[in-house]
Amino acid sequence: MTDRKPRVLATRLFPEDVEKRLCAHFDARLNPQDKLYDGPSLARAAEGFDAIMCAAGDAMNAETIAALPGSIRMIATFSVGYEHVDVAAAARRNIVVSNTPDVLTDATADIAMLCLLGAARRAHEGTTMLRSHSWIGWEPRQLMGVHVTGRRLGILGMGRIGQAMADRARGFRMTIHYSNRSRLPAELEKGAVFHADPEDMLPHCDFLSINAPMTPATRKWVNAERIARLPKGAVVVNTARGGVVDDEALIAALKSSHLFAAGLDVYDGEPKIHPGYYDLQNAFLLPHMGSATVDTRNAMGFKALDNLEAFLLRGQAPPDLVKPS
Ligand code: DGY
Repeated sequence: MTDRKPRVLATRLFPEDVEKRLCAHFDARLNPQDKLYDGPSLARAAEGFDAIMCAAGDAMNAETIAALPGSIRMIATFSVGYEHVDVAAAARRNIVVSNTPDVLTDATADIAMLCLLGAARRAHEGTTMLRSHSWIGWEPRQLMGVHVTGRRLGILGMGRIGQAMADRARGFRMTIHYSNRSRLPAELEKGAVFHADPEDMLPHCDFLSINAPMTPATRKWVNAERIARLPKGAVVVNTARGGVVDDEALIAALKSSHLFAAGLDVYDGEPKIHPGYYDLQNAFLLPHMGSATVDTRNAMGFKALDNLEAFLLRGQAPPDLVKPS
């Protein structure tokens, strides 16, 4: 038995208060320059550590996990999404994985609504016109967008964030349609129309919001055929994971005006986004900032620490244990 503090490798520069608590309870190696690790350098850096606190975008794939030193017992990701962690590979090495659900629900749903409104109301074109000094004044035909109030919103993935998005959209008197692996109980459904088959929902979507996780089944789910099933002039919003959308298909539909606009916070292969998006005036683009509020990022960090502390300090299962599917 040793009374040494467990050693935790932090892969990113986390919020200050989070790092303070991390250092108070653990022998932590921080990353003050926020230098990105690739898989091999991460595995090397983990030598002698008990756990890794990582984040979305870190290459915690099967190869990296196979190369981790035997000392690593836990991977705590500072994110609700965990597609960057190969949970099955971790399980094979008896490495426990945790994530940070719940605490970023509201912040992410707020950004989803911002993307919806920004896309529908041509916010990118408006701010660009103003900042480029080319606004010559109010005009009756200027920047006419799509009306949001009272329209139909289809939500793909009615988990916590999808439900929070629906609550916000109800404030705009939108009719909610949704598709989810299972139908929600009436008190959570709140009158939303359930589509067991997401394909059936598409023709009912003036707006389609992607709130489903990235899995092999959702990879490039929003493809050309499915976009064609959306009503002409629909708006697509994605605040979940970029890989759920086939970028080529979305860009083609934005160019052809089959879609009126898209509001995106996440991208396949980010931060290298498909170059086709940059020139599209009808794409309202944000840099993956769904959870970026001070309160939320702190809460995510504290949740990651709750998990690390439970497992490493008290020998308990982390409260947000991620099990292999
Ligand atoms: C998450 O937690 O999965 C987010 O995408 C990071 O903000």
